[in-house]
Amino acid sequence: MAEQERWNAVDDYFTSELAPADEALEAALRESDAAGLPQIAVAPNQGKLLQLLARMQGARRILEIGTLGGYSTIWLARALPADGRLITLEYQAAHAEVARRNLARAGLDGVVEVRVGPALDALPVLAEEGGAPFDFVFIDADKVNNPHYLDWAVRLTGPGSVIVCDNVVRDGAVTDADSTDPAVVGTRALVDRVAAHPRLSATAVQTVGTKGYDGFLLARVTD
Ligand code: SAH
Ligand code: DHB
Ligand code: MG
Repeated sequence: MAEQERWNAVDDYFTSELAPADEALEAALRESDAAGLPQIAVAPNQGKLLQLLARMQGARRILEIGTLGGYSTIWLARALPADGRLITLEYQAAHAEVARRNLARAGLDGVVEVRVGPALDALPVLAEEGGAPFDFVFIDADKVNNPHYLDWAVRLTGPGSVIVCDNVVRDGAVTDADSTDPAVVGTRALVDRVAAHPRLSATAVQTVGTKGYDGFLLARVTD
């Protein structure tokens, strides 16, 4: 069995045992496909990982940068208590529209707010609004802006908050210091900033499976 096939089989096994889809999650992917959105949502077992991390964190306010069709959003929002809230930022109006429908179908439209526009415009607005700090941030948008998203994430969180960033490995491209790929340059800049940040404790892990060879960075804002 080719490696990728084996990794997919293991993902399918763990997903069916531990992170089975329900109608709302299945519909979110189906409707995202039907609307022509790219098939780049987190895998089901990764969505469950995000949900568990948010739940273990006791998250009450979650910020997501990069909504797509709201698939990861559904996993994350389901970690929230009844009075919890999730704000998700999406550049493409068409993606946001699909996401809003998917979130409504999942019964989460009262919990999640989808804000449309470039995240770098929305983030300063969030800061100006002066709401309570976010206790969980998921960064998963245009990778070129990852260092800026990291800076805003730190600014909009507080002691003990958790920041997770998707796609930090990209087939191992992250180790190429000479890369001119803006996504690689952006992610390396994020890793540098995390490493140098006096208030962040972090690690990154490689993942294989249906999303190919990639990985997550996890950081915690120190107390
Ligand atoms: N988190 C989603 C996947 C997000 S894909 C999931 O796992 O289900 C990345 C999304 O980021 C895309 O929908 C893309 O339109 C959006 N995006 C790209 N550039 C952006 C920007 N500057 N601001 C906000 N969103 C952006
Ligand atoms: C891409 C973006 C993602 O967030 C992801 O998880 C996988 C791929 C992309 O832009 O190709
Ligand atoms: Mg991603």
